[in-house]
Amino acid sequence: MSNNRRQIKLGMFLRPAAHHIAGWRHADAWADGGLDFSKFAELARTAERGLFDLLFSADALTGERYDRDTLSRTSYVAWIEPMSLLTALAPLTRNIGLVCTATTTYEEPYHVARRFASLDLISGGRSGWNVVTSANDAEASNFGREQHLPKAERYARAREFVGVVRGLWDSWDDDAFQFDKQTGRFYDPDKRHALDHKGDYFQVRGPLTVSRSPQGQPVIVQAGASEDGRQLAAETAEVVFCAHQSLEAARAFYRDVKGRMPAAGRDPDHLKIMPGLGVMVGRTRAEAEAKYQELQDLISPEVGVALLSKYIAWDLRGHDIDGPVPVVPQDRGAPSRSALLSDTARAEGLSIRQLYQRIAGGRGHFYVVGSPVDVVDMMEEWVSNEAADGFNIIPPFFPNSLDEFVDLVVPELQRRGLYRTRYEGNTLRELLGLPRPLSRYANGAGM
Ligand SMILES: Cc1cc2nc3c(=O)[nH]c(=O)nc-3n(C[C@H](O)[C@H](O)[C@H](O)COP(=O)(O)O)c2cc1C
Repeated sequence: MSNNRRQIKLGMFLRPAAHHIAGWRHADAWADGGLDFSKFAELARTAERGLFDLLFSADALTGERYDRDTLSRTSYVAWIEPMSLLTALAPLTRNIGLVCTATTTYEEPYHVARRFASLDLISGGRSGWNVVTSANDAEASNFGREQHLPKAERYARAREFVGVVRGLWDSWDDDAFQFDKQTGRFYDPDKRHALDHKGDYFQVRGPLTVSRSPQGQPVIVQAGASEDGRQLAAETAEVVFCAHQSLEAARAFYRDVKGRMPAAGRDPDHLKIMPGLGVMVGRTRAEAEAKYQELQDLISPEVGVALLSKYIAWDLRGHDIDGPVPVVPQDRGAPSRSALLSDTARAEGLSIRQLYQRIAGGRGHFYVVGSPVDVVDMMEEWVSNEAADGFNIIPPFFPNSLDEFVDLVVPELQRRGLYRTRYEGNTLRELLGLPRPLSRYANGAGM
């Protein structure tokens, strides 16, 4: 099947045990899934059976998130380091893209360039780098800093960082290596390039000690949604991961980011926007709703209240969780979502429990709970309304929710001609319909 624009692109968002905050407590969930490589291997094989474009392993350089007691009731605290994980999964899979996070705030471009180029060689062209500036400011304390860098500085560093990495990926021309045993020439010295970068944050001479990789350059993914994040995405990203609560918000974001691309000299088709999508599917809508409610009821009140307190920026401990959400003062520089949650609770008469159940499951991502037809109707509506080119699928817990997606949703997508019926390419770029970048030194330029 050809790579036409209507074909929905799919990522599979890995996470230890579960995405839903209480998912790890489900009777069938692999609670130890973040620490057991064989379980990741099985998830990767299932995702490949479902013809996903890519596997995505997010990352943070800390597990700190909540207070001591609340944290001990959640599952995203310990996991296998993503690059090690994807490198080990590479020979166990054949077609699926392998994407993971590396932060521009706490890493060095030379290290990042080297690792992702190596993964590209090992996997035969399936590597992708999710560029983040780090969402969790507790990471600072693991790198000799008391505070996270301010946002504007994080993004300025990120922009330079991405430029250096991409420059290093062009260190060798595609045909640099001759391995000529007769003449004794291992490579052509004219085809090896030193970057000689001197910038505000980095000084990197190069060249990289990894050859140009099968994709030319690994795929660049971006997951920042602020003004700075959107601009960086428009300038550099080939895939964007994002989170939206409604079709309207997703459309506005899609239009905004793609609209910035021509000014950056880029074709909007060369960026695939893939919002996160929580999917709880059942054979019928009633079955899916019952399964979802089962997970919601597993949220420990301690966790629900802590999470809601964080979102609403007000300590809700000590209130009756089945009583109304208290009126939270909004004149204290609280984040905008605090007012949104407060207003929603008042307008709909929600209790604290009902409000935390509403936000805890999706962590800001859109959730669809229903039959395969319901799920695909929603996906088709978003893609045909230019709100998404595909989705980063967020199974509520593993392995069941992924199996159900592959067994129930994928056939419905295929029946409507919205999704591939076999892998049509060998590299992640080919699957996503992205061009192979020309080296900056091609045709003698920049030498
Ligand atoms: C699907 C998705 C995946 C993300 N993965 C990571 C990650 O692995 N590590 C990380 O530090 N931040 C991650 N983020 C957070 C973003 O990188 C970013 O920090 C956040 O969206 C705030 O963006 P902003 O600073 O541009 O507003 C992710 C965000 C989304 C929507």
